[in-house]
Amino acid sequence: MSYNLLKGKKGIIFGALDENSIAWKTAVRAHEEGAEFVLTNAPIAMRMGQIKNLAEQTGSEIIPADATDMDDLANLVEKSMEILGGKIDFVLHSIGMSVNVRKGRAYTDQNYGFTEKGWDVSALSFHKVCQTLYQKDAMNEWGSIVALTYMAAQRSFPDYNDMADNKAYLESIARSFGYFFGKDKKVRVNTISQSPTPTTAGQGVKGFDGFIAYAEQMSPLGNASADDCADYTVSLFSDLTKKVTMQNLFHDGGFSNTGVSNEVMEKFME
Ligand SMILES: NC(=O)c1ccc[n+]([C@@H]2O[C@H](COP(=O)([O-])OP(=O)(O)OC[C@H]3O[C@@H](n4cnc5c(N)ncnc54)[C@H](O)[C@@H]3O)[C@@H](O)[C@H]2O)c1
Repeated sequence: MSYNLLKGKKGIIFGALDENSIAWKTAVRAHEEGAEFVLTNAPIAMRMGQIKNLAEQTGSEIIPADATDMDDLANLVEKSMEILGGKIDFVLHSIGMSVNVRKGRAYTDQNYGFTEKGWDVSALSFHKVCQTLYQKDAMNEWGSIVALTYMAAQRSFPDYNDMADNKAYLESIARSFGYFFGKDKKVRVNTISQSPTPTTAGQGVKGFDGFIAYAEQMSPLGNASADDCADYTVSLFSDLTKKVTMQNLFHDGGFSNTGVSNEVMEKFME
């Protein structure tokens, strides 16, 4: 169902790797709602990715950018404004990667070079994106910037490893940059804290199958899917949420406020 919520709006969407990606689903929904946007991802992801199919499906152009590289980001923002014919209304930061997780390093045995790289990609890149947009005065008034996060920023999930720290930092950037973007440009900045979701990044977390099944049974509404997340993100890009800013918004079927569920209790009473 389409409501024309993003009619006439222009955006930049980071992080569509394949059709499971949350960014991919969001791009499809934003297109259905009338938005025009540029798709971007790291040059390496372009080579292996299927992003061209998404670009064709949504009538979008692709501009490669490593989200940790300030020159790439400057080029991305300038070219996007040229292609879209004006300033930007919405930006999705849907980027995450831990080198420690990839290399099988436990949280108690980090390689700090890996830690720094993962932090740069997963957390600091959000500041870099915001700073580039801010300094280039690239956002329209009442624009909306959203990044994706996970509840391991607030509570401990042992296998989420150093991504937990990266997400805490990311959420803090939304608050801190949200202040300046709100005051100076009337732009909102939020993070969405999403349920575990079967994507390339999600499945990189050790024990993901147990993790997602547990969350499903703990959430009164069940886990939020990538499609659900795309819907929610579109609402945050729309004019219906103009005064929502500097928030970390849980989108998790109620998981974050549930102490225990009957389904989980029953497993201990067998
Ligand atoms: N899948 C989950 O369970 C889950 C839950 C909560 C939050 N999230 C978050 O959602 C976001 C999107 O992840 P996803 O689950 O759709 O997985 P995904 O693997 O489809 O997307 C991650 C993206 O990050 C991109 N990326 C990595 N390094 C980059 C760089 N240097 N520059 C630019 N892009 C880079 C990848 O190419 C990929 O497109 C991430 O922030 C992730 O942490 C995921």
